[in-house]
Amino acid sequence: MKNFIQSLPKAELHLHIEGTLEPKLMFELAKKNNISIPYKNIQDVKKAYKFDSLQSFLDIYYAGASVLMTMEDFYKLTMQYLEKCNEQNITHVEIFFDPQTHTSRGIAFRDVVKGITKALNEAEKRFGITFFLIMSFLRHLSQEEAIETLKISLPYRHFIKAVGLDSSELGNPPSKFTQVFQMAKNAGYLCVAHAGEEGNASYIKEALDLLHVQRIDHGFRCEEDMELMKRLKKEQIPLTMCPLSNLKLKVIKRMEEHNIKRLLEYGLLVTVNSDDPAYFGGYLNENYEAIAMSLNLTKEQIKTLTQNSFKASFL
Ligand code: ADE
Ligand code: ZN
Repeated sequence: MKNFIQSLPKAELHLHIEGTLEPKLMFELAKKNNISIPYKNIQDVKKAYKFDSLQSFLDIYYAGASVLMTMEDFYKLTMQYLEKCNEQNITHVEIFFDPQTHTSRGIAFRDVVKGITKALNEAEKRFGITFFLIMSFLRHLSQEEAIETLKISLPYRHFIKAVGLDSSELGNPPSKFTQVFQMAKNAGYLCVAHAGEEGNASYIKEALDLLHVQRIDHGFRCEEDMELMKRLKKEQIPLTMCPLSNLKLKVIKRMEEHNIKRLLEYGLLVTVNSDDPAYFGGYLNENYEAIAMSLNLTKEQIKTLTQNSFKASFL
């Protein structure tokens, strides 16, 4: 099965570039940029990566991202991920970045976008990997701050395909961001949003009805609403699911509980993604392997999931 998964060309549609920061690079950049991090060594880091919720992860993830200071740092981070994509036969990527995590520390938006884009352009030439970039708004911050970020992004509009919505879901529903998503749409951006990871099915409905998103990131809790299920099926609205993330953040207790197979068999356009692979113990192929084993997927089902990844993409 491992070889079969490796052999299939795949697209990855739900990947936070800050979530690919491996401990080794974290230490290297912390030293170079003279930033203190609360870990003595790599074992120490691994020990800290035990999460009991989305928030417990986000606290550590934002702290880790503080070592990223220069355009070159973003280039290096992105290139390491793209080298992994090349190894794993990932031929198309749609990458999230969180500009507010960096602009709030005084890093220029330009440096973030230029560093990431430089690596993406280079990887397209070296490996033939195609790409789009998705700018995510942090939902624990205000809509006004998201609007400010949208305005800052406009000179770089041609580098960015879509806007997204991530960070702490509970208590920060899509309805909080209706206006900024309308503005983004008017500026020509496509729209996606995290919904139904920890939040209930109403978050998914709001993302569709109020933010008019093309895809739902996660969508795990869609089964709570049968009408919603029918709509997701009828309109073939993609769900970018992240099995190892759901396990590590305790959305599920065991991988055997994951609903991706049931949703696939029901007829939803579900896809497999790695979310924050440096934190969740596996890149894309490891996510496929985990569900293939725990859910007894057939080769045909795995092939369908990889085909779905291209169907659900912005290609
Ligand atoms: N930021 C990075 N990973 C995330 C996730 N799984 N959910 C929400 N925000 C995130
Ligand atoms: Zn995510």
